[in-house]
Amino acid sequence: MLTGAGVSAESGVPTFREAQTGLWEQYDPMDLATPEAFARDPELVWRWYRWRRDLVAGAEPNAGHRALAELQSLVPRLTLVTQNVDGMHQRAGSSDVIEFHGNLFSNRCSAEARIVNAADDDDGVPSCPDCGGYLRPGVVWFGEAIPEEALHASFAAAADCDVFLSVGTSSLVYPAAGLADVAREAGAVTIEVNPSPTSQSESYTASLRGNSGMVLPQLVESLAH
Ligand code: OAD
Repeated sequence: MLTGAGVSAESGVPTFREAQTGLWEQYDPMDLATPEAFARDPELVWRWYRWRRDLVAGAEPNAGHRALAELQSLVPRLTLVTQNVDGMHQRAGSSDVIEFHGNLFSNRCSAEARIVNAADDDDGVPSCPDCGGYLRPGVVWFGEAIPEEALHASFAAAADCDVFLSVGTSSLVYPAAGLADVAREAGAVTIEVNPSPTSQSESYTASLRGNSGMVLPQLVESLAH
């Protein structure tokens, strides 16, 4: 299954593309979420990511996250791929989550590209304890490749699933949006959970219209009994 920003919306974490509240409605991703933006103004990029870290740290997983954690024990195998970088699924109890776009709370060395365990100084641009290069948030930016292991494991799971559940994503960003196509071509039943139609809705076997915090607990409850 695949989740997107909508699953955390009821926790108070803003989505990206929704009118008025979406992050990309208020900020230009080209100023904040590209390697070029970081090279141009790393302090600005860090200010924005620290603001997001604080926002997520002050938020709690919601009933939708918790239902998905419970779902894990009700089906023989569940691969949870998330485009979210907020770590909420893990906080709600899901294990082996594939973080397709990285994690907001991790740091990567911008020179060596590897994840670095380093305390994030509260301001300025932190540097790599090994090579002294700038540290950057460990998330995937526009124009960057998905971490190889996450990409491979996600597409392998999609090609081998019976049911593909897509929750709270606009299905506009590839390659994540391509996972549903792979599952469909492999013969899986595909289900979308979203309060609004998406560009892919027509291709799904079924669409459950509603907030994930309401729909997912009902879905899980019906499977449990
Ligand atoms: P979007 O902001 O594009 O889409 C959020 C979706 O969530 C929309 O389809 C909403 O209708 C839906 N939604 C809103 N509230 C919901 C709720 N309570 N329950 C269920 N669904 C709800 O976010 P993503 O599809 O996750 O990438 O965006 C994909 C990627 O684009 C992100 O991972 C990020 C962004 O640029 C990177 O930063 C690399």
